[in-house]
Parts: sequence; structure tokens; C-alpha cells
Amino acid sequence: MTSSYQSVILVKRPADNIVPGETFAVKDEGPIPSAHDLEDGSVLFRTHYLSLDPGMRDWLNDDKSYMPPVGLGEVMRGFAGGTVQASRNDKFPVGSYVTGLVGWTEYKICQGDDLQKVEVTTSRGLVDALSAFGEPLLDAIPDRFTYTAISNTVACLVGFTSLTAYIGIIDVAKVKAGDVVVVSGAAGAVGSIAGQIAIIQGATVIGVAGSEEKCRWLKEELGFHQALNYKDPDFAKKFESATPDLIDVFYDNVGGEVLELALSRAKPFSRFAICGGISQVNTTKPVGPSNFMRIVYMRINVQGFLVFDHAKEFPRALKDLSQWVSEGKIKTKETIIRGSIEEAPNALRDVYRGVNTGKFLLEVCTPTEQAS
Ligand SMILES: NC(=O)c1ccc[n+]([C@@H]2O[C@H](COP(=O)([O-])OP(=O)(O)OC[C@H]3O[C@@H](n4cnc5c(N)ncnc54)[C@H](OP(=O)(O)O)[C@@H]3O)[C@@H](O)[C@H]2O)c1
Repeated sequence: MTSSYQSVILVKRPADNIVPGETFAVKDEGPIPSAHDLEDGSVLFRTHYLSLDPGMRDWLNDDKSYMPPVGLGEVMRGFAGGTVQASRNDKFPVGSYVTGLVGWTEYKICQGDDLQKVEVTTSRGLVDALSAFGEPLLDAIPDRFTYTAISNTVACLVGFTSLTAYIGIIDVAKVKAGDVVVVSGAAGAVGSIAGQIAIIQGATVIGVAGSEEKCRWLKEELGFHQALNYKDPDFAKKFESATPDLIDVFYDNVGGEVLELALSRAKPFSRFAICGGISQVNTTKPVGPSNFMRIVYMRINVQGFLVFDHAKEFPRALKDLSQWVSEGKIKTKETIIRGSIEEAPNALRDVYRGVNTGKFLLEVCTPTEQAS
């Protein structure tokens, strides 16, 4: 074990794409804390995994958003999973597996109330808690999310991909049997689960993703009825052919051209659940759909949502999700890269390059661990 530890801090707000060596810098934090540095109730957290989420790009802008921006010079905010190395909190004995909004740092002294204990079993590990099966700290979530009510604990929910998928499909879009549902960003963490939940509801599901391999995975492994590669030169034509009866529901993770295409194929009174807009977050000049008036002509119900606002639905959602997982109706996948904490900026940049299928994680290793 090295005697000092490192963090990654934000040093320059990116105008467009993240530039790893310019946007972020590695900071030497000095000696690793020990049990002597702990106060009553606190624990020493060691990071094993960092969650890489497209929504993190928004935190780099100096804008008013759903939560405050990360300050210049501050450790990059991020959801992490790790172990308790030293403890003065009975709830988290040494060796406990935990998750929380710890940030991009190798070690941190945390207060117990901002960590979630993970019960690791033979079938569920720490990775699962950061991926599809993460459960929020229900008690800490307000009924209604507001900018002023934000706490770091609430922000942990960015990692809870299954809940986001569930709320969007079940509570926002209200998908029912017979619906034609299109999911963009379909091979990602949220999209892959959203599509499977729509299939469970009896819908016909078309996924949109960025490679032939991802499309094959969606159809052959997850049971999507069709999957289309938006990088295919004939994508628009294929999208039209795939939706002869138009679309009842569009679950959108990417915005931009795919949203425009979906609007052009929307049924009257269709429902658009807007979960994210990955294609537009890395630019200072985001483009909206040029056919915006289709919303009027087709009387489309377009609903943006934040999973935080639906806390009251989480117990039902978690019950349904657990049942579907145990019945084998929902499959999950993770793309995990290994590297030191210095790799985190490259990894976040890669989220917007389509490197991942399913949930994207960085396994944080020391050089010795990497060599093994
Ligand atoms: N509303 C909420 O409460 C909430 C909560 C959590 C997440 N979200 C949002 O949900 C969306 C999905 O999140 P996630 O965690 O599941 O991410 P993700 O899909 O695991 O990761 C990003 C994927 O998006 C695709 N992508 C990247 N750039 C793109 C572009 N320019 N155009 C089209 N696709 C692009 C890439 O796959 P391809 O190979 O297919 O391009 C990439 O793998 C994000 O927009 C996120 O912000 C919303």
C-alpha cells in the first residue's frame, strides 16, 4: 500500500468535450488517513469502483441545473463503491462494502449517513450495487426534488439505472401491451433496462444504438424486437421502415437527430419520456428538433423527468424490479475498465464515445493491483 493517496479535481470548465489533461488534474492529498483521524460516527472509505454517468458532464457547467456545479479546484463529484478500511461507526464495521457520492478520490473520511451499505452475497456484488441494482437511501430522499433541497445523498441516484428506466417506462410513459416503443441510447445502462421493462409490459420494442454489435446484443440477448444502428447511413430510412404503424412511446436518452426522427414518426397522442440528451451535452450550441411543431400537430405528451421526483414510487419499483430479475426477465451487463484514479477523466470522456455496453465503471487499482 502506498502511503499517500490521490484525487482528481476539476480545474477548467470544458466548453465542449472534456479534455482529460486540461479539464481535470490529479492532486496528491498526502498521507492516507488512519483510524486515528476518525471522529465518532465516521469511517475511512477506500474506492474500488467509480460510476461513469453521462449526467456528470452537466455538473461541469457553471449553470443553474438540477444540482449545483462542481466548483473549480474541488474533487470531481461521482458515485463510487468501495470498502470501509477503518471505522468508528457500528453500522459500518471494517470490511463493509458501501456505495455513496464519494467523488473521484482513492480514500475519503465519510460520515455514515451519506453511505449505503451493500450486502454482498454469492449472487450480488459491489458492482451490482453500482449498476442496475443499486438501491437509494430511501429515508434521505424528499418527496419532491427541488434545487434547494438537493443533498449529495439524493444525487447518488444518478447511478440507479434500473429505477430511472422503471420510472420512465411505467410512471412517465405508462407503457402498455401493444404499444410500439422506441428507446434511444438502448445499449446503455438505462436504455437496456428500459427496453426490457417495456417488453415485460407487452410492448413491441425498437432499440437505437451506435454499433451493429450493440444492436445484435439488444436483439439476441435482451429480446428487443428490432434494433437500429444510428450510425448506419440508411438509418433514417430503416427507422421509417421499422415503424410502419408509427410510435406510441419514445424513451429518449440522446436527443438531437434521433429525437427529431422520432417526432417525425409519432402517433397522435403518443408519449415521449425525455430521460436525457447525451448527444447535446458536449456542445455550447445544442440543437433542438427542427420539427418541434409535430408536438402540436400530433398532440404529443412530452414529459421530461428526473428520477428523484418519484421517490414515493421507489418501493413499488424495487419490488417489481427484484421480481423481474429473479424471474430472469431482466438481464444486465457492465463494461468495466481497470486503472488508477488518473484514468477517471479519460473514462468519463469515453462515455460519450460509446465505449460501454450496459453500465460503465472504472475499477480503481493501484499499480501493483493492475499488474496482478
Ligand atoms: N432523468 C433522470 O433522472 C436520469 C437519471 C440517470 C440517467 N439519466 C440519463 O439517461 C441517459 C442514459 O444514461 P446511462 O447511464 O444509461 O448512459 P449510458 O447509455 O450507459 O452511456 C452513454 C451511451 O450513450 C451513447 N451515446 C454517446 N454519445 C452519443 C451521441 N452523440 N448520440 C447518441 N448516443 C450517444 C453511447 O452509446 P452508442 O454506442 O449507442 O452511441 C454511450 O455508450 C443519459 O442521458 C443520462 O443523463 C437520466
